[in-house]
Amino acid sequence: MFTVENYTISGNVLQNTVARLIAPVLARTLLHQNGRGVYALFQLLVASCGVATCNRVAGILAASYANRKFQAIYNNIAEGIGNTPLLATRLAEMFGFRGVVYLKLEACNPSGSIKDRSAAFMIRQAELRGELVPFSGQHVIESSSGNLAKALAMICFQRGYNFTAVCDSFGASKNKMAEAFGAIVHVVDGPPTADQVDLREARRRHCRGLCAKSPSSVYIDQYYNPDNEIAYLKTLAPEIHSQLPDLDVLSICTGTGGTSSGCSQYFREQIPEVKIIASEKEGSTMFADVSARAKCVVPDGTGYHCALPRVKKALQNGEVHEVYVVREKDAMLTSVFVSRVTGAAVGPSAGNAIFSALCHMACAQREGSTGFAKVIAICADGMQPYKDQVDEFMAKVFGADLTTDDMGDILRQRVCEVSRQCVYGEGMISPTSIAFKEQVDASRDR
Ligand SMILES: Cc1ncc(COP(=O)(O)O)c(C=O)c1O
Repeated sequence: MFTVENYTISGNVLQNTVARLIAPVLARTLLHQNGRGVYALFQLLVASCGVATCNRVAGILAASYANRKFQAIYNNIAEGIGNTPLLATRLAEMFGFRGVVYLKLEACNPSGSIKDRSAAFMIRQAELRGELVPFSGQHVIESSSGNLAKALAMICFQRGYNFTAVCDSFGASKNKMAEAFGAIVHVVDGPPTADQVDLREARRRHCRGLCAKSPSSVYIDQYYNPDNEIAYLKTLAPEIHSQLPDLDVLSICTGTGGTSSGCSQYFREQIPEVKIIASEKEGSTMFADVSARAKCVVPDGTGYHCALPRVKKALQNGEVHEVYVVREKDAMLTSVFVSRVTGAAVGPSAGNAIFSALCHMACAQREGSTGFAKVIAICADGMQPYKDQVDEFMAKVFGADLTTDDMGDILRQRVCEVSRQCVYGEGMISPTSIAFKEQVDASRDR
C-alpha cells in the first residue's frame, strides 16, 4: 500500500540516499579540479532540473565550496580557523556497538578551541554593522571562562582593537594565553562557595560596569548575541556536512548553546534525519531541574543555569532530539580514556559529548536497532588547559593506579547503567519537557 505519507517518507529517503552518495564524489572531483566553471555548470543543471535530490547535492557542494581551504600559506591567522580534522575512532567497536564514533577536533583551531569560529564571526558582524571600526583602537569587552577570551584576544589584536577579558581564576591557564595574545585580563572571583553560575554572573556584572564607563566600547555578550549561533550555522555545520555527508548523529556539549543551536538549525534544514544530541554536565541546570544546580570541579565553559532563548527555541522547534545530563566523573573519565586510546587529547566537554554519544548507541542497540550509525562528537577543545585539574580529580576519584583497561571497563559499565535510564529517541530527559519549562535568566539585566 502506498499512502501519501509513505510516499513522502520513501521519497525523502530516496532523495537523501541518492544525494548522500552522489554529492561527496562530485564535491571531491570538483574541488580537486578547482573547477568554478564546472561547478557553475552543475548549478545551472540543478536549476533546470528542479529536482529535490539535485538541490540537496547542490547544498552539499556549496558547503564543500564554502569551506574549501587548501591554501598552503595564510596571510592572517584568522584564515586558519575551521577545516578541523574529523577523526574516525574504534570507540564504537570497543564498546560493542555497530557504527563509528568520529571526533571533530576543534582544538586544531589557531587559539585551541571551537570559540575561534564565533569570535571571528561576532567581530566581523559588529564591523559590518559599523559598531566596530578596524584599527580604531576601540575597546572590546567580554566575559569568558577562558576559551572565548583567548579567541577574541587573538582576533582583536589582528583587527586593531583593545580587548579586556573578564575571567575567573578557574580558567587560569587560558587567561594566561589571552594575555599572551595581548588581552587585558580582569579576574573576578567570588567566595569559596561560589559555583560556576555565581562566577559567571559576577563576570557579566563586571563587563556591564566596564561598558558603562567607556561608551565607545563594545560588549560582545556571547550569551545573547545571535551571531554566536550563526557562526556555527555558517561554518561548523556545513563543514561537518561536507566531511561526512551521511552522518546519522551529532553530539554536542552545551554552554551558551551557540554550537548546538547553529548546528541543529542547519541540519534541520539540510538533512532532517540527522539526530542532534545536546548535553550538559551535572550541576548545570540548563536542561535539568533547577534544584540540581551544583558546583563542578573543573569549569570548562559549559553549562548554564537556565535554557537561554536560543536553546529554548531549538528545543521548541524540535531541532534537538536527545538530551543528556552527564556526571562530571563520567565526562572526565571519557576524556582521559579517549585521549589515551585515540591519541587525540580532548577536553572534559568533549568527554561529555562522547559519553552521551555512547549512551545513545547503547540505547539504540538495546532497542534492537541493527543499523550502522555514524556518530560525530564535537570536541570543543583539548585536554591541555585542564591537565593539572584533571589529574588531581582522577587521582582523587579513581585512585592513582587506574590503567587504560580499567578505565575502559568502568566506562562500559557506566554507559550501560546510564543508557538504561534513557528512553530511545529522547535520551535522558525528553527535549519537549524542557522546551516548555518556565525559566527566567535572572542574570541578564542585573
Ligand atoms: C570547552 C568548551 N566546550 C563547549 C562549549 C560550549 O559551546 P557553546 O557555548 O557554543 O554552547 C564551550 C563554550 O565556551 C567550551 O569552552
